[in-house]
Amino acid sequence: PLLTRRNLLKASAVAGAYGVGIGVAGKFGLAQAAPEPQVLKALKSEATLTEAGVTKNIMTWGDVAGEAGMPPVLRMTKGKPYAARLANALDEPTTIHWHGIRVPNNMDGVPFLTQPYVYTGDNFDYAFTPPDAGTFWYHPHCNTLAQMGQGMTGVIVVEDPADPTFDSEIILNLRDWRLGGNGQFIAAFRPRDAAKSGTFGTLRTANWNREPQYDAPAGGLIRLRIAITDVTRIYSLKVAGAEATVIAIDGNPVPKRFPLDLLLLGPGQRIDLAVRMPDSEGATATLEDIRGTAPKTLAKLRAVGASLKRDVGDLAALGENPVASADLSTAEKISVVLSSTAESAPADGICGTIGYSFWAINRVPWPGDTKDPTAPLAELKLGKSYVLQVENVTQHLHPIHLHGMSFTVLSSSTREAVPFVSDTYLIQPGEKAQLSFVADNLGDWLLHCHIIEHQKSGMTSYVKVV
Ligand code: C2O
Ligand code: CU
Repeated sequence: PLLTRRNLLKASAVAGAYGVGIGVAGKFGLAQAAPEPQVLKALKSEATLTEAGVTKNIMTWGDVAGEAGMPPVLRMTKGKPYAARLANALDEPTTIHWHGIRVPNNMDGVPFLTQPYVYTGDNFDYAFTPPDAGTFWYHPHCNTLAQMGQGMTGVIVVEDPADPTFDSEIILNLRDWRLGGNGQFIAAFRPRDAAKSGTFGTLRTANWNREPQYDAPAGGLIRLRIAITDVTRIYSLKVAGAEATVIAIDGNPVPKRFPLDLLLLGPGQRIDLAVRMPDSEGATATLEDIRGTAPKTLAKLRAVGASLKRDVGDLAALGENPVASADLSTAEKISVVLSSTAESAPADGICGTIGYSFWAINRVPWPGDTKDPTAPLAELKLGKSYVLQVENVTQHLHPIHLHGMSFTVLSSSTREAVPFVSDTYLIQPGEKAQLSFVADNLGDWLLHCHIIEHQKSGMTSYVKVV
């Protein structure tokens, strides 16, 4: 039966109360019994991010009250049920969104659209079976400029037991913090910047540290999983001092591997690199962001031990993810125009807007996550193929993210697009891009810019699959 949003919310509420995740029947439904949930307790904490001392009001998830620092890396297995219990110990509502993982709609974590708020002191049980392997991440979908800006961005690794083995795996969560000279949080944004490329942080980190160094076997092959979980910053990543090969983008294996030369990645995006460590003990490879004037070191990898003398050419292919390919002969085209706007600010502001409208999709600025959202951008038929014809008529880059379904980047007016599968496409000013997908997941799926100030000041919409 088709679930209306009202029924769906009821179903989710029941799931939350009784601790049983109810999957929408169908392709992404629960085939096997859910395991014991992993407890993710949303809480405020403190951590030492600067020399100025302890930063207060870091937000994170931990099982123990007062536990500091980074959200845990969540490990799941492709095709195996996963369950998590969100326990809200924050003083405001929250939810969890599983960015890039194709989950049933009532597990997607978008307040009002797919589930009710999880209020202070309440729990919500998430349960789903990740269909795809790769590097993903999780974050709230509620008051996100504050919650994500203050730390609620964690990495998810979905393992494929069939993947080739590496000599080591290193996970880097890249993001900024907006801290003042005393090491405490300052205003999350400036309106005039939100109307441009967004408000940047003041402290750049990898895994909540400045320029951390990790040891890895000399001459070994390292799987470097990088997630850009920043709310604003776009990176041009480069590895100096070692050979780095791109093996996956946004969780999905690339059709053809290529050397990482300079790759532009926006908030929400991930890359998996095979890094061939230098042979000599003590030599370092450096991950840099070369966007802007001077290269910025993000993290270092130091070679240890005798060289393993690996060759990246010997690395077996990653397993394919079961993402359906669109039938382009029947695919319906949907135009998606990203523009700026000067509409007056919408009123709803709890989980939704930041009090300004600067951006729009198809000329409609999103009014905030309200009980009565605007009409969907399009109503899609389950199982049919579609092509989003995205056009960026603004002066700025926008990482456009679709929930619930992965798309194939077919072509671009400004870039040579090798078709690749993704969930977040960084579109450049003036660019037109074609993103194809099969509408194979029922429900309401958000489509938004992942520069959170843009998302929260209008650049959000959704598609409805019925
Ligand atoms: Cu990272 Cu709406 O999501
Ligand atoms: Cu944007």
